[in-house]
Amino acid sequence: MHRKLVVANWKMHGNLASNKQLLTAYIEKLSHLKNTDVVVCVPYPYLAQAQAMLQNTHIAWGAQNLSKDTVGAFTGEVSASMLKDFGATYVIIGHSERATAYCESDENIATKFMQAQQHGLTPILCVGETLIEREAGVMQMVVGSQLDTIINTYGAAVFANAVVSYEPIWAIGTGLAASSDQAQSMHEFIRSKVAAYDLAAATSLKILYGGSVNPQNAVQLFVMQDIDGGLVGKCSLNAQEFEGICRAAAQ
Ligand code: PGA
Repeated sequence: MHRKLVVANWKMHGNLASNKQLLTAYIEKLSHLKNTDVVVCVPYPYLAQAQAMLQNTHIAWGAQNLSKDTVGAFTGEVSASMLKDFGATYVIIGHSERATAYCESDENIATKFMQAQQHGLTPILCVGETLIEREAGVMQMVVGSQLDTIINTYGAAVFANAVVSYEPIWAIGTGLAASSDQAQSMHEFIRSKVAAYDLAAATSLKILYGGSVNPQNAVQLFVMQDIDGGLVGKCSLNAQEFEGICRAAAQ
């Protein structure tokens, strides 16, 4: 089993004052945690604040998206090197809330994945199926094809320095998390899919689970063989709940 990784995804929440409180609480509660890495992915404008507050702690920070381009006339976009300027080390790629609302294609997501890696950021690639796809029993096919876009373009070795987060769309923000067996079975599929091309990359790949993780279900999820941690939305906005999740990972 890997050292666990817990990533907070604040989404579009917070302001300077509330972030200060939340980050102060994170630092108090989480700095001495052993066996677990903690990352907080903040909205772009607060990267500087995260950097100022977290730079001498064990908590890392990152962003929730990045541009697929390196530099140029792309109004409103933020490049990988800009994230690096603020000490970001991780970036979430292809979150379903973006893929649906902003029509991100798998090809776009693959390009962003490489942008992140080429600039020394660790991509956290989100994959997952809709409820209809799960009910139709095609969830592995869906997740497999999301991974294929990257494997076919860049090879499977790129997963050696990446994180994949399995996020069933029906579980995000619904309070209805996948069961630990459902999650484990998909995580095992993801690892074996990468292993079929590159065993070393599959072995070192961290696979997180995301979708209504809370301190209670985290205990069951994080003991599973192929679940290396979590990507946490709602519960990351509450320091106590987030601490509970991180402690479950540290056990
Ligand atoms: P949630 O969000 O924990 O609020 O379900 C998870 C995510 O979208 O990453």
